[in-house]
Amino acid sequence: MLILAIESSCDETAAAVTEGRRVLSSVINTQIEEHKKYGGVVPEIASRRHCENISQVVKKALEEAGKSFGDIDAVAVTFAPGLIGALLVGVNYAKGLALSLGVPLIPVHHLRSHIAANYIDNEELKPPFLCLTVSGGNSILTEVRDYTDFDMIGGTRDDAAGECFDKSARAMGLPYPGGVNLDKIATTADFKKYPLPRPKVEGSPYDFSFSGLKTAVINTLHNAVQKGEEVDIPVLAATVRKRVCDMLIENTLLALSDRNSDTLVLAGGVSANSELRTRLEEECKSRGIKFYRPELKYCGDNAAMVGVQAYYEYLSGNIGGSSLNATATLPIDYTNNLKRG
Ligand code: KG4
Repeated sequence: MLILAIESSCDETAAAVTEGRRVLSSVINTQIEEHKKYGGVVPEIASRRHCENISQVVKKALEEAGKSFGDIDAVAVTFAPGLIGALLVGVNYAKGLALSLGVPLIPVHHLRSHIAANYIDNEELKPPFLCLTVSGGNSILTEVRDYTDFDMIGGTRDDAAGECFDKSARAMGLPYPGGVNLDKIATTADFKKYPLPRPKVEGSPYDFSFSGLKTAVINTLHNAVQKGEEVDIPVLAATVRKRVCDMLIENTLLALSDRNSDTLVLAGGVSANSELRTRLEEECKSRGIKFYRPELKYCGDNAAMVGVQAYYEYLSGNIGGSSLNATATLPIDYTNNLKRG
């Protein structure tokens, strides 16, 4: 079954042609250079660029796969969560295309597709497993019971891990996208020099909280400016990175042990973080737990992961129609809620 997948939830316009878990093409048009000027994504600009780029990106994905519209068996699209104007461009394009080709339309949840990025190069990976999904807008711990059956067991109470990285990086004067650049320049953490807090959510051991850490970084920088002191940015960056990883890893290891899980999957844009990848790999190895993380090219937003998840959504009967709408926020286990009524 050949799927043409489309992704436009934030600042990447992407299209891919997939067949099951196989990726025939994956094209990404990123708007990073444009949003860099503003230090973050400007939603209105993102939507406009998606409108301008989407047809060309789809055309290129078909060309690279050596396919034409007539070969496509279904159209898949990210419909939630994300920037509403950006999502709407992909959703409306996909609806029109599916209708004109006379093929099914498959709506895909953005975080489910980030998890599916792990299926691309790991043929043996199958649910059930525990998954830590960390991106710019979300940080959740999920039990993946089946390809389309999710149980969210923990999440952030305030900011996502990526948001904490991005805002800390911006306060340090690093260019957008902050998380990536913070990771690049970070050296060695020093908690004596920069005693950043390690927040915990009392009574909810799987939940995260990152806003206090973000505020502490901003205060550290402001205090230094007021006192005329110089800040060692690479050391501060490494200290923030370590704190974020400490919180993510501690809760994940606890959930793995409480639930007797033998497999951990890492997903989302922050899964590209070098410290998070290395430390989770070591922790899992020492506990005899199988550990998977996406190839770096599939960590950020792309449409290949949308196509792969769409295949499983299709098999589960999760098909959309002309009434499909984009949704800015939606939990990963939304289909369970629909079934419960
Ligand atoms: O999943 P994603 O591409 O978009 C969302 O759906 O949010 O994630 C983007 C997030 C941004 O916050 C970005 O700074 C962060 O992932 N990120 C990183 C790294 N690479 C991307 N954060 C820390 N270290 C990295 N190497």
